[in-house]
Amino acid sequence: MIIRTNSLMLDSNFFRSHWLLDPGSIDLILTDPPYGTMVRIHPWDKKISLVETADVFDYLLAPQGQIAIFCSDRLQFEIYPAFSPYFDFRYRQTIIKTSATAFHRDRPRPNSEALLVFHRKGTPIRDRIFNHEVVGEEGLPWKRTNRKGSRSTMGGLKRLVDENKSGKRYPTSVVYAPNRPGMSKAEKQDSTHPSQKSLIFIRDTILLLSNPGQVVLDPFAGSGTTLVAAYQTGRSAVGFEMEPKFYDETNERLRHVFETSDVAILSDFAGIEIEL
Ligand SMILES: C[S@@+](CC[C@H](N)C(=O)[O-])C[C@H]1O[C@@H](n2cnc3c(N)ncnc32)[C@H](O)[C@@H]1O
Repeated sequence: MIIRTNSLMLDSNFFRSHWLLDPGSIDLILTDPPYGTMVRIHPWDKKISLVETADVFDYLLAPQGQIAIFCSDRLQFEIYPAFSPYFDFRYRQTIIKTSATAFHRDRPRPNSEALLVFHRKGTPIRDRIFNHEVVGEEGLPWKRTNRKGSRSTMGGLKRLVDENKSGKRYPTSVVYAPNRPGMSKAEKQDSTHPSQKSLIFIRDTILLLSNPGQVVLDPFAGSGTTLVAAYQTGRSAVGFEMEPKFYDETNERLRHVFETSDVAILSDFAGIEIEL
């Protein structure tokens, strides 16, 4: 059984209300910000200031905290310079979606997006959480050697042995995850958010980049996938969502998850102290 600690959703603009959280109180920021690509159809997709975002993230993130941020190809080139005063780039994962989105006349329709991971500048490698053994999939152990006498990458001097004793397959830099059109009804959980993320992928990312009991923040929570995943993996979570429709749906989704999960609720909203 997983033990849930706290989970909190705020119906508010993140930039106006982030000060409700203590500085340095967040271990992982996992978010999918508005990209500004669909703003003509969805007014909530108005692009944010990435410089202001980096500033606020710097205020909220714990000394060894990490950021995992989804982005389009175009946005990633703006994120790097905005984040670089405070954060170092760690890795990029490419997520292949089940369906392409949006029609573009001047480029291929995107059927992938990126997840960029950053850590605070100067965090030593041993302190950067990466629990690959937790999300690694079981597989068959294998051992591979080069043929005797053949030229190997070691210049043919030694037999080259490559071995995987446990059989675990570790996370790769390209992953497949459904976007909304490819999700089952059960996975959508009655949410109508067009950018809803895959719960399984978000859960793996939380397991990979944080430890049980730590605090995860999603400043642009949408359908609340990050909060659901944090709850299911024994992390605390805080989310902000400024669109009343999505906020209401997400609260409903969270209520349903809390009631039906095999998760112990220790206390509602204790621990993260907030004065509204
Ligand atoms: C791309 S969606 C996130 C989708 C989410 N990852 C999911 O799984 O459903 C971005 C969300 O951020 C919200 N948003 C945009 N600007 C915001 C702000 N300044 N503060 C809080 N929420 C904001 C939008 O209303 C939208 O629901």
